[in-house]
This record gives sequence, structure tokens and C-alpha cells, in this order.
Amino acid sequence: MEVVIVPDAKAGGELIAEAMAQLLRRKPDALLGVATGSTPLPIYQALTAKVRAGEVDASRARIAQLDEYVGLPTGHPESYRATVLREVVEPLGLDADAFMGPDGSAEDVQAACEAYDRALSEAGGVDLQLLGIGTDGHIGFNEPCSSIASRTRIKTLTEQTIADNARFFDGDLSQVPRHVITQGIGTILEARHLVLLATGEGKADAVAATVEGPVASVVPASALQLHPHATVVVDEGAASKLKLTQYFRHTFANKPEWQGL
Ligand code: PGA
Repeated sequence: MEVVIVPDAKAGGELIAEAMAQLLRRKPDALLGVATGSTPLPIYQALTAKVRAGEVDASRARIAQLDEYVGLPTGHPESYRATVLREVVEPLGLDADAFMGPDGSAEDVQAACEAYDRALSEAGGVDLQLLGIGTDGHIGFNEPCSSIASRTRIKTLTEQTIADNARFFDGDLSQVPRHVITQGIGTILEARHLVLLATGEGKADAVAATVEGPVASVVPASALQLHPHATVVVDEGAASKLKLTQYFRHTFANKPEWQGL
């Protein structure tokens, strides 16, 4: 696992957006797996700026969603489909048909999950998957103790995640859906490059357990240790509980070519 410590969220966003731009220059129709939440927004802003400045052509990019709430009315502004369309697809100037995601309003949720896993494979697999991390160590909505081999499926959110996400629902815990569809950890591990961004001290414990702890389903993000090409980008706050900080800084200093990955 490669750990890169950046001064702040903006720098993390810029670094990852440049990695995405370089991927798109090599593979213009790359399938980009995107995450929701507050953390990745600087990435999308930086990538959009590069597109608008003519530094990269994203017109053939394809976008895949990581997870989705179950049961929100179609078009609800906090559904992840609506969020990805608003934050990623529209700013990049892509058509809605460049975008794929699980159907959170399907009557048969299990069938929708299986269909999404199939669709990802048929699309050739995700080239670069962006990930955030929950304060409880989740990736996607794979909450603690999710199987490391899991596929896309329905999950129940923990109280912690419901509390963390209430800010998107006017702070009203009762409005946060209890169920979600998420790419499984096994599904996520099939992407060719995993890039996790974590910012702020609130993520420091989860980051330390992910990077320096054992691989364990109780910390779902620790499964990144199993991936041959996983990059963790953290700001000073999120890095504050790492013990091997000097080594990670050293890694970054000596791997400028990372930006070409
Ligand atoms: P956040 O969410 O970026 O809003 O903190 C991250 C996550 O829950 O994966």
C-alpha cells in the first residue's frame, strides 16, 4: 500500500485529479469508480478545472457509482445517483448514459445488486476506484465485519454511519435511510487501482487501523492491503495517528512517478 501525506484536502484533491487525468490521457474511455460524501469533492473540483482548462479530455470517460441508499424516492437530491450526476457527471460535461450505478429503488434489490456486479464486469471493470473511509473504517457502505470476499449486496447502516450522514438530511437521523446497496469489498478489490482519500483528524483512527493494523473485516478498509495497487492519500489530520509517518513521507519524496499511475 502506498501512503501519501499531503498538506490539506485541496492538495489531495489536486494530486488525485492529476492521476485521473493521466489515466484518461492513456485510456480516454476509462471507467472511473466514484465515491460520494464530502471528502472526494476537492477531487471532482480539481478534475473539472483541468477539463475546463483543456488539460484533459474527459468526454469519453465512464463513471461508476460505489453505493446507493435503498428506498429514497427516484430523483431525491441526496440519493447517490443524484449526487454523482450533480457533482461529477454534469460538471465534467458527460451524458447521463456515461454513468452506471445500482438501482436503489428496485423491487428486487438482490437482483439489482447482482445485475450491477455483472454490469461492472461487462463494462471491462473499474480502472480507478476512488474511496472515502468512514470513521468506523468502512469503504463504500461495507460496515465493520463485512466479508472481505463480499459482492454487491444490501447492507444495514450502523448507528455511527447514520449519525455521520444525518448532516445531509438536515441533521434529522430519522430521515437517513437504514438500508443501502454497496459494492462488496471483493467487488471493490477487482478495480485496477484503488485510491482512498481521507482528510481531517476524525479519520485518524480509521486510517491508522487501515494502514498499520492487520487485515481484518472489523476494519473493512484494511482489505486495501490485499490489493496490488492501492494508494492512500491523507492530510496531516488524517495522518496524525500513523506511527510510520516518516517512512510514508519518505515514500512520497522518492516516488514522484506516483503521479503518473
Ligand atoms: P465523508 O464520508 O467523505 O463524507 O466523510 C466518507 C465515507 O463514509 O466513506
